[in-house]
Amino acid sequence: MRTFYPNEEFNNIIMPIVSNEEYQKTKNCVHHGMNRYDHMVRVAYYSYRITKFCHLNYVSATKGAILHDFFLDDYGEKKALTLVNHPGIALKNSMKYFDLNDLEQDIIASHMFPVGKTIPKYLESWIVNLVDDFSCFYERGYVFKENMSVVCSMVILLFLVFVKRW
Ligand SMILES: [Fe+2]
Ligand SMILES: [Fe+2]
Repeated sequence: MRTFYPNEEFNNIIMPIVSNEEYQKTKNCVHHGMNRYDHMVRVAYYSYRITKFCHLNYVSATKGAILHDFFLDDYGEKKALTLVNHPGIALKNSMKYFDLNDLEQDIIASHMFPVGKTIPKYLESWIVNLVDDFSCFYERGYVFKENMSVVCSMVILLFLVFVKRW
């Protein structure tokens, strides 16, 4: 998976956030079968590209996107509850460590709409919301493909062992 994006402007926007010690801990959180850090960087990068292309507030869009899932609790038994509530948890956590304007707060709070109840107020928030959805599909598909290749390898190995025995 691609976890590094060679774009100086993008890296300059996210660096003060991703270099935070608490933020670094998201590398240890499982998210869509991978880690939450890589997911947030991916969402931030494509949100940056699209909002910049559309001449929107791409700096705040990138900041909101890089923080949209900034929380350390892993998904567990309370999955349905967490899916709805985690934007609020991420917003509270983000505001504890960083200064955020209204747009950046809205991006985090509304990124799960319509599963979450907060409706995006800005075009940038809608874009991050959609990029997050597409990233989720992409990441889950990638994990599925990875798992399928392991399953296929196991089947081939068992088949070869079986054939050799006979
Ligand atoms: Fe999320
Ligand atoms: Fe997300």
